[in-house]
Parts: sequence; C-alpha cells; structure tokens
Amino acid sequence: MTTVPETLPAANEPCWCGSGRKYKRCHKGTEGRIAPGVVSPMRTVPTHIAKPPYADTGIVPPYREDRVKTPEVIGRMRESGRVAADILRRAGELVRPGITTEEIDIFVHEACIAAGGYPSPLNYHGFPKSVCTSVNEVICHGIPDSRALQDGDIVNIDVTIWLDGVHGDTNATFAAGTISDEDAELMRVTEECMWHGIEAVRPGVAINEVGRAIETHAKKHRMGVVRAFIGHGVGENFHTDIQVMHYYDPRNTMVIREGMTFTVEPMISLGTWQHRMWDDEWTAVTTDGSRTAQYEHTLVVTSDGVEVLTGGPGAVSPSAPWLR
Ligand code: MF3
Ligand code: CO
Ligand code: CO
Repeated sequence: MTTVPETLPAANEPCWCGSGRKYKRCHKGTEGRIAPGVVSPMRTVPTHIAKPPYADTGIVPPYREDRVKTPEVIGRMRESGRVAADILRRAGELVRPGITTEEIDIFVHEACIAAGGYPSPLNYHGFPKSVCTSVNEVICHGIPDSRALQDGDIVNIDVTIWLDGVHGDTNATFAAGTISDEDAELMRVTEECMWHGIEAVRPGVAINEVGRAIETHAKKHRMGVVRAFIGHGVGENFHTDIQVMHYYDPRNTMVIREGMTFTVEPMISLGTWQHRMWDDEWTAVTTDGSRTAQYEHTLVVTSDGVEVLTGGPGAVSPSAPWLR
C-alpha cells in the first residue's frame, strides 16, 4: 500500500501514487476517504438455525404482511428487538483502532447464532456479510472487509437478527479512539434526531411528522438529512411497505395506527445529503466525502404512543437523551 505524502502535488503535476497520470485525474480529492478492503467468502449458518426465505438464494420472494401486527407477533418482536439491541451494544464495545470491520462481522454472525437466530443481512438481496459496517463518509450498507479502523474513525454498526420468525433491526454509530469535536457533535445530533422522530410517533398522526421532526432538528444544527435511504415497516419480513422518510415529505400522509411496527433510522451528514454508490452496488457514500452518522430503532405503535422494541436498559441508545 502506498501512503499519501504530507505535501500534495499541484493539480497538473504527476500523482503521488506513481500512476504517471496528472494528480487531478488520479487521487485528487480521494485522500482521507475510505477505500474498499478485501471481502472474505460468505460465512455459513449451522443447520439447526431456521433460515429466512432468501437465505439460500439471495432472492427475496413476494410476500404479504399486515401493517398492524397481532399481539402474538409483537411479543416475538419484543424478543428479537431485545436480542438485536444486546448484540449491537456488545459489537460496539469491540470498536477501537486496529479492529477490522470483518472482525466485527464475525462477532455479530456468531452472536446471532448463539442467540438461536439468523443474521438478517446475510444474503439478503445477495448482501455478502452478516452486519453492515459504515465508516466515516459511508452512509449505510458498508460491507465488512479487511480494513482496520483508524484512530478518529466513526463507524455505524447495523445489526438485524431474524429470531423466532421476526426481524429486530437497530444501529448506532461508535467512535474508534479519539474523534474530532465535529464528529462527536454529528453523532450526538444524529441520535437526537432519531429520538425527535420517535417522539412524533403515536396513533392518528401522519407518518411525515417523523421526518418533519428529524429535519427540523438537523437544520437547526446546519446538518444534512440523507434522502435516498428511509425507515421501513418490519416484522416477519425485513422491509415491508411502510415508508418512513427522515425529511418532511408532504405526500407521505399514511396515518400511524396502533400495532404498526417500523423503524426510524436517520442518516445525517456534516455536508451534502447526496450519495453515490461504490462498484460493489451496496456501499453508499456522500458525494463530497463528508462524514455521516446514523442511529436506528425498531418500534411498535401503542394506544397512546410508542414502544421502542430495540430500546431499554441493554441498548446503546436506551431512551431519548433528555429523558435519561
Ligand atoms: N439493516 C438495514 C436497515 O436498517 C438493512 C440492511 S440490508 C443489507 O434497513 F442487505 F444491507 F443487509
Ligand atoms: Co432498518
Ligand atoms: Co438496520
């Protein structure tokens, strides 16, 4: 691996990497950005673990699922949510400079199996790993690989487990070593954005109130809301038809009803909200390289508000910061 020199060439000078191309046509603007590492072969799941329909093929078959869940399904989601939150917290405790995102993947893969569940991302639409790890300017869906975290990195870990037939989906952003004040503020504001969104949830309210609350808080801190990835209905299927925008969308007027289960998972950027995709067709990064953070909970709507299925004492973000 070549290291970036301390003084960079002028735009029309040869690139520092030795390619012979002009600097402006080669590495200009890529310094300090995340480069893809090596992705190891897909891990396997023992035969005693029940598998969701896509596990062997990578194809998600058509399904139908009610938006409003029965108490029986909610009971099972309470358990998958609790276990997902516990695995996320323990995965986050591993974050330090030097650990590779693949090592985090191995931990999450084994922890899901030990809990008797299937790591939902594995082969979902062909996703090659058991958890998403999104570092710095990676917005979401980062694939765990051989890259070691560096001092000052921020990494989102997005854990989903399929346990007893239902998914529990939760994520949080963690600091590797000592991070900048700006990144610490990004993480704090993003977690607050998630909780402002969650607090907007109750029966009879339009779902776009969630996005309105999130966007208002992000704007107050001059941060951007990523638009291309949204919260979703969740239950027996990983992603169902409820759409939870994280910005105010006047068209998104679905009325929230008791028993609905969905996620709130804002991705907030220090710069642009626009993204592009790596060639792996999963990894989404900001176009300007600015860093992003994300937090996610799975929720069920109650008669007068919301129950956070992935919250509570064992969670990274157990409740709104202003309530704890
Ligand atoms: N857990 C992600 C979410 O919050 C989805 C990951 S899909 C995968 O919706 F295929 F990338 F795993
Ligand atoms: Co989700
Ligand atoms: Co998720």
